[in-house]
Amino acid sequence: MSEIRISTGVQGLDTMLQGGLIPGRVYLIKGAPGTGKTTLAMHFAMAGVARGEKVLYVTLEEPVENLKQDMPKLGFSLEDPNFVLIDATPATDTYVLMDSMFESFAKGFDKMMETIKTQFISLRFQRLVIDPLTMVKLTTRDEIEYRRLFLEFIKTMHRLRVTTILTSEMEKCDVEEYLVHGVIELRRFEVNGRVARGIRITKFRGSSFDDALRPYTITSEGVVVNTDEILRMF
Ligand SMILES: Nc1ncnc2c1ncn2[C@@H]1O[C@H](COP(=O)(O)OP(=O)(O)OP(=O)(O)O)[C@@H](O)[C@H]1O
Ligand SMILES: [Mg+2]
Repeated sequence: MSEIRISTGVQGLDTMLQGGLIPGRVYLIKGAPGTGKTTLAMHFAMAGVARGEKVLYVTLEEPVENLKQDMPKLGFSLEDPNFVLIDATPATDTYVLMDSMFESFAKGFDKMMETIKTQFISLRFQRLVIDPLTMVKLTTRDEIEYRRLFLEFIKTMHRLRVTTILTSEMEKCDVEEYLVHGVIELRRFEVNGRVARGIRITKFRGSSFDDALRPYTITSEGVVVNTDEILRMF
């Protein structure tokens, strides 16, 4: 019997992952600005909602109003009661109100985890997105402390059986890449003056995977991966 996999919401990516993500684990989507990290994370969130799962999406840079304006254009309705969207962006009015959500999420990993744990124990989410993690990292100055908190976070998510997607803007290899269970990279190249987009899985613990760089596009249906082709750079 094959093990249970859960869909990323993008068919081509599920194929590259040999059926989908292994549940209860933490994955990283990394890529330069505008490569589609938020869109891909939203596919994953909505795939959960479509299955009747509870999903928590924490946005740390893009305000909720923007997501509510942009995401329906890609076919994502953010109105489902099982979809909880938390705005943890450092907006002016949030600062003025000293909103506890911003305090807990963006002011450090430990506070963020505390809030997430409380939310999860009472509401039992099955999927979590933190977009982007970069904001949280910037608030933790000590690298060793960050590593410790990050590992604790991974363990907690595993214990709570929550499949988690984190997005990251970091271009170079970072500590998170070693600690998470899987890494998906979104890349943008210039080929003959044109922009080409490529998706690659660089790590997927516990499974074999398609390690080719596959072309993808962003359309009115969101991210579409072409698994029949390999993106070649020359
Ligand atoms: N309907 C559409 N058709 C084609 N492209 C689209 C469509 N809707 C959005 N896009 C493009 O998708 C791209 C990816 O957006 P997204 O916000 O997911 O990227 P991101 O990696 O999260 O960016 P950032 O680093 O700024 O957070 C945008 O550059 C946008 O132009
Ligand atoms: Mg984004």
